[in-house]
Formats: sequence, C-alpha cells, structure tokens
Amino acid sequence: MRTKVLMVCLGNICRSPLAEGILKSKLDKETIQVDSAGTASYHIGKKPDSRSISIAKKYGIDISQQRCRQFTAKDFDEYDLIYAMDRSNYENIVALAENENAIAKVNLLLHRSNATNKEVPDPYYGGEDGFEEVFQLINAACNLIAQDINHK
Ligand code: 4NP
Repeated sequence: MRTKVLMVCLGNICRSPLAEGILKSKLDKETIQVDSAGTASYHIGKKPDSRSISIAKKYGIDISQQRCRQFTAKDFDEYDLIYAMDRSNYENIVALAENENAIAKVNLLLHRSNATNKEVPDPYYGGEDGFEEVFQLINAACNLIAQDINHK
C-alpha cells in the first residue's frame, strides 16, 4: 500500500513545497503519495517562492507546478505521516487534531536527522543562503524517510 505523506510549514511557499518535491524525487508514485500544506492562509493558490523554485531546480527538482493550500483537520484522515517543519507548525497542526491517533501521525521533519534543534528554519525573510541550508536539512531528513519506506 502506498504511504501518504504530508509536509507542513507556515506559508506552504518556502519549506514544505521543497520537502514535497525532494521526497517525491526519491521514491516512485507506486510507493508514495506526497503533498504539502501551510498552517496559514496567506498564500493559498500561489506558486512556491521563487527562491525555493530556484534551489530545487539547482538540484534537478521541479516544484514550479505546486500550488499553496491550507492544512485542514481532514488531512488527518487522508495522510499516514504528517511532518512539521518547526515547533510552531507542529503546535498549530496538533491543535486541530481530534484524537490521539491523529496526534500520533505528526512529527517534526528533523526529529531523527538533526539532533541539535530539530527545526527547519523559516527562510522567508532571509537571503538565498537560507534556502541552501533549508534544502540540505530537508534532503537529509527525506533520505531517512525514503529508506524507511523502502524497507517497509
Ligand atoms: P514557509 O515560509 O512557512 O516555509 O512557507 C513562510 C512563507 C511566508 C510567510 C512566512 C513564512 N509569511 O509570513 O508570509
């Protein structure tokens, strides 16, 4: 059975579109279904931030066709694994959960790959360097997720 994974950040224009594109690039469609969403509604319907599109392109991944959507409580029914980019996203997601089963699906994306602070920093107000760092953090986490799903 396909594993359904949802990547979540605040705006769904910088970090989670990258996480969606990166994880999709590591596994085929028969194995995994990946989507992304934001906890906020500011950018619904918009393309990913041009800096995220550029950094993905640098590594051979096209995320330009993605469109922003907001996370909703229905996503708990649809997805098996829900990854939050930072603790604030995590809290916003869990606040919409109706039971323990839903809460158990949610984890910080970096909970295994980055022992120190476990958060993908928000790159929105920073420079291009921030997007390179974000790409590398997300890529390392997605390697572990892809390995786990392959060995299931
Ligand atoms: P993201 O970054 O959560 O990685 O998509 C942000 C995008 C937009 C805003 C904040 C963070 N904003 O305040 O509009």
